[in-house]
Amino acid sequence: MTLSKNVMKVQPSATLATSAKTKEMIANGIDVINLAIGEPDFVTPDYIQTAAIEAIRSGKTSFYTPAGGLPELKTAIGQRIAVETGVHYDNKQIIATTGAKFALYLIFEVILNPGDEVLLPAPFWVSYAEQVNLTGGTPISVATTGAGHKVTVADLEKARSAKTQALVLNSPQNPSGLIYTAAELTAIGNWAVAHDILLISDEIYSNLVYNGNQFTSMVGLSEAICKNTLLVTGVSKTYAMTGWRMGYVLGDPAIIKAMTTVASHATGNPTTVSQYATIAALTGDQQDTEDMRQAFEQRLNLLFPKIQSLPGFELTEKPQGAFYLFPNVKRAVALCGYATTEAFVDGLLEEAHVAVVPGRAFGQPDHIRISYANDQASLLAAYQRLADFIQTKSNQ
Ligand SMILES: Cc1ncc(COP(=O)(O)O)c(C=O)c1O
Repeated sequence: MTLSKNVMKVQPSATLATSAKTKEMIANGIDVINLAIGEPDFVTPDYIQTAAIEAIRSGKTSFYTPAGGLPELKTAIGQRIAVETGVHYDNKQIIATTGAKFALYLIFEVILNPGDEVLLPAPFWVSYAEQVNLTGGTPISVATTGAGHKVTVADLEKARSAKTQALVLNSPQNPSGLIYTAAELTAIGNWAVAHDILLISDEIYSNLVYNGNQFTSMVGLSEAICKNTLLVTGVSKTYAMTGWRMGYVLGDPAIIKAMTTVASHATGNPTTVSQYATIAALTGDQQDTEDMRQAFEQRLNLLFPKIQSLPGFELTEKPQGAFYLFPNVKRAVALCGYATTEAFVDGLLEEAHVAVVPGRAFGQPDHIRISYANDQASLLAAYQRLADFIQTKSNQ
């Protein structure tokens, strides 16, 4: 029995591996502070929970729905996206999926032929490259020269080949927290249109934006860019709904139709109760979302200067969105006597009991990802442990 070539190219998720090790240590009674988390630490707001319970009680969640989601869900998605981006999509241009992660997988499944290349500006979210591998394409890591890890048209042009099929752009970005400006997005969007390269715009953190920074959606820039873009997003981060598994894509109806066909054979519809919960999330009062956003903003403002001040940590640009810091720790790794970032991260977890994710999985091995999806007291305690760890190690 041999596994498929595509599967053999794929690495297990580094974030999930760190998280499994952390959970095992916690289960063994060790007081680990987990800053490797990729999800909000808040519980799904009450009004969404209540709507889901009512939907279950009514009996309507017992059944299949259309594979791409209930028409009323698509309408709610279209209305919310119109409010947030100014672009109107009809239901034929919308698919609801089992999380944005599966939405991205479906996109690669329907657009890629063997050898087709997908450009991934580094750092990039861990799953993009592996999903491209799984669906027979070739992920191309693009070195970024713009301020704070942003990709420029010149960077993209260097990476473009006759096989380039798509570009994945993520703003606000996981792991750097940076947001592309309208001017930067317009330049990239026009470049993609000019070269007939499909733009996959992952905007899942679009509502987690801090300190007066502005988020711009790729689809609101021009009609030509919008037509050439698949907008990928979902409820996981905005509404603290990671466990409900609900994402969605808006864009070209032919691609949406193909994705729906694949989904109909792969998963069938996303879980029915999650669809009703999402309708409630999208159409309800958005105050809970705002409260969570403010809590993240306070945590960012608390933690950023502290992480910046750590010896050997380089973090020049302040993140504007999402809930991560992505410092370059090359000098700290050397200072502490480690040969690799991975060994530093292991030492930090085993000796100082702080979990973070090594940057290699995001295409930048000299960095680590620190999540601030944790309460302020834990963030301060984690900072102190980090500072003590570096001091002890560098004196050894
Ligand atoms: C950049 C990015 N895109 C997509 C996802 C997938 O989100 P979900 O599958 O929970 O909707 C995540 C989750 O961590 C993410 O960080």
